[in-house]
Amino acid sequence: MRLLLTFVVAAFGVCAMAQESRLPAVAANPFGSAVEEGRALFQMHCSYCHGARGEGGRGADLTTGVYRQGSTDAILFATVRNGIPGTEMPAVRATDEEVWKMVAFVRRIGDTSVREKAPGDPTAGKAVYEGKGACGTCHAVGREGGSLGPELSDVGRRRSLKYLEESIVSPDADVAIRYRTIELVTRAGQSVTGIRLNEDDLSIQMRDRKDDLRSFLKDDLREIRRNRPSLMPGYGKILSRKELDDVVAYLNSLRGEQ
Ligand code: HEC
Ligand code: HEC
Repeated sequence: MRLLLTFVVAAFGVCAMAQESRLPAVAANPFGSAVEEGRALFQMHCSYCHGARGEGGRGADLTTGVYRQGSTDAILFATVRNGIPGTEMPAVRATDEEVWKMVAFVRRIGDTSVREKAPGDPTAGKAVYEGKGACGTCHAVGREGGSLGPELSDVGRRRSLKYLEESIVSPDADVAIRYRTIELVTRAGQSVTGIRLNEDDLSIQMRDRKDDLRSFLKDDLREIRRNRPSLMPGYGKILSRKELDDVVAYLNSLRGEQ
């Protein structure tokens, strides 16, 4: 019995020591090629904060390849293993092997050499954006444009080509929390759809389809329907394959310098 106890105490001590040292013993990722397994684990443990593709949300954008904590495999491992104290980034409940696989996935999405070259023509894409697509009615680039949708001035830096294309073809695939569509039904039976801006116990504010700010007292509402379809139309049938490639190339060229 006593022996067992000593053993347990000793085992505890070793665990505590392992916890203390922030960096793992091996510097290089032993599961560096397990990107797909890492992707699946990431969906389970991380995507609700960092987005399905690591594009960020409540958690940081992980696609830039530059991490404030440092970008080596060892530092990423420690960040994911231990979390970042004093922030919302928690320690993960997973085995070391699983953590390494998630690190492999994070490295892949942040690898700038993976940042693909857009097949389209950005100049032609700008014309589609301003003309046929009328994207500027809802989006701003620099100071020009509407504010119903997210500003796109640096969208090429924040998002992958695939994400950009998906945003245009299937706007509902991944809607940022700040751009969720709500529908309010007033007691008089009038329905107003828009982007939810703010809400407290008594009132709710939104930006309606015309990009006007509206505020409602909850007492005046019969119903609040959340998670309505995106206000952005799907362009899959509106744009040709080439026009789509061109618009994506244009967006990809927007890196916040204008
Ligand atoms: C509850 C939300 C949440 C979850 C779950 C979460 N994170 Fe985070 N993560 C954050 C936040 C918030 C930050 C930014 C912390 C800060 O620096 O202020 C962050 C930061 C990071 C960073 C460092 C970014 C940098 O620039 O240094 C990495 C890497 C990271 N998270 C990876 C992961 C991985 C991998 C998982 C899944 C195992 C995960 N996170 C789970 C919220 C979360
Ligand atoms: C009627 C308004 C409206 C129009 C027109 C519109 N969008 Fe959007 N767009 C939105 C809204 C709202 C969102 C945020 C919700 C979502 O992701 O569906 C959005 C999201 C996006 C995103 C994702 C941005 C990010 O940071 O994740 C991209 C990219 C985008 N739009 C590009 C375009 C392009 C290109 C066009 C023209 C071909 C266009 N939009 C036309 C309203 C619009």
